[in-house]
Amino acid sequence: MFWELQKASYRAIQVVMKGVLRILPVPVPEIFAGAGSLAKLPASIRAHGVGRVLVVTDKGLAAAGLVQRLSDSLEEAGIPFTLFDDVQPNPTLQNVEEGLRLYESNECDGIVAFGGGSPMDCAKLIGARATNPKRSVQDMRGLFKVRKKLPPLLAVPTTAGTGSETTAAAVISDPESHEKFAVVDLKLVPPVAVLDPELMLGLPPHITAATGMDALTHAVESYIGGYKTRFTDENGEKATRIIFEDLEAVYRDGSDLDRRNNMALASFYAGSAFTRAYVGYVHAIAHNMGGLYGVPHGLANAIILPHVLRFSRKEAEKKLADLARASGLGTETDSDEELSHRFIQRIEEMNRNMDIPTFIKEIQEEDIPLIAERALKEGNPEYPVPRLMNRQECEALVRQMLPPTDEGR
Ligand SMILES: NC(=O)c1ccc[n+]([C@@H]2O[C@H](COP(=O)([O-])OP(=O)(O)OC[C@H]3O[C@@H](n4cnc5c(N)ncnc54)[C@H](O)[C@@H]3O)[C@@H](O)[C@H]2O)c1
Ligand SMILES: [Fe+2]
Repeated sequence: MFWELQKASYRAIQVVMKGVLRILPVPVPEIFAGAGSLAKLPASIRAHGVGRVLVVTDKGLAAAGLVQRLSDSLEEAGIPFTLFDDVQPNPTLQNVEEGLRLYESNECDGIVAFGGGSPMDCAKLIGARATNPKRSVQDMRGLFKVRKKLPPLLAVPTTAGTGSETTAAAVISDPESHEKFAVVDLKLVPPVAVLDPELMLGLPPHITAATGMDALTHAVESYIGGYKTRFTDENGEKATRIIFEDLEAVYRDGSDLDRRNNMALASFYAGSAFTRAYVGYVHAIAHNMGGLYGVPHGLANAIILPHVLRFSRKEAEKKLADLARASGLGTETDSDEELSHRFIQRIEEMNRNMDIPTFIKEIQEEDIPLIAERALKEGNPEYPVPRLMNRQECEALVRQMLPPTDEGR
């Protein structure tokens, strides 16, 4: 009975939120897309009146030789910059503060976010701290707590991906509490996004797979949720179709520039959809896997996605079937029920083909109550999911992803 009342209250809050979201003017970044589009970055930095930029990136990108490419292009164009390459995967509050110190001590007045979601999110929060120095990142946790506009932030994603280059979110980890949380504000949408597939050619297969499945999760969760609009539907359908067609091929052959380009666009489309229509329990649980165990975000999503879809299959049946038809998995004459199953099976098949396991090896049985508590604190009532989940249901779902034991679970 209590759960029934609670569900009704969550749904009431979501009705109000849906109305608010429809009138919210979410900014759209200026996009430079296609092979070689990184060359447009220096002129765009200049056009934004920036004197010295802080380049926010990570050591992996330096090792891949990509930071050198960016530095060369900035030097050639005579744009002064300071390099901050200490962002960790699942970036931390400390990463933000460290980047902020460099930003201030070098008198930067703009930021280039260069990398996957981790450097992009860290860069967003460095920018937010720079113009809102009295607010800590924790003060800005949640919705619309960034008071002042950020300095110009130009995002160059090198994974496909989080879509952070077009979203209003930045996700950050607190290493003390092992919590991962989001700051969400329209001011965090970067004014410029450079989608250059050449930067993604060397992305290792396992990161290609995980980040691609993150984009798919954005497309699917926003599509089956209650905040969808025609705009988010179109973007979700385009993204899903591309990911079904191209992700496995690009996992096998990372040098395929056309497919890398498609994936960069798919990630952007999926980001545009979910920043307006939100995500769901896959993300709520995945954030805990990142915060507690450091599991890469996309990998966690890929494993959790089929489980959450099965949990909500009946309620999401029509939408899953529509998405299946839009991505070529069936026709009008196939039943919704049949197509919704086929859609979930297709995701499991992709996971298998890309060597993504069916369990999360880090999960500890004794952590499950905490995982469920935190996941539902994040998801309820914020995410407009097709079927609401309670504590027992969430614990049972997470338990399905425990690693096999020697006795063979
Ligand atoms: N802001 C948002 O809207 C949003 C959405 C989804 C996820 N996220 C967050 O983004 C983070 C994950 O981002 P991610 O999945 O892009 O991974 P990531 O940024 O953590 O990068 C993963 C690894 O890939 C390497 N890498 C990146 N690009 C490369 C390239 N082109 N060549 C070779 N190596 C490369 C990096 O060095 C790093 O080691 C998580 O913290 C997640 O919570 C944010
Ligand atoms: Fe994500």
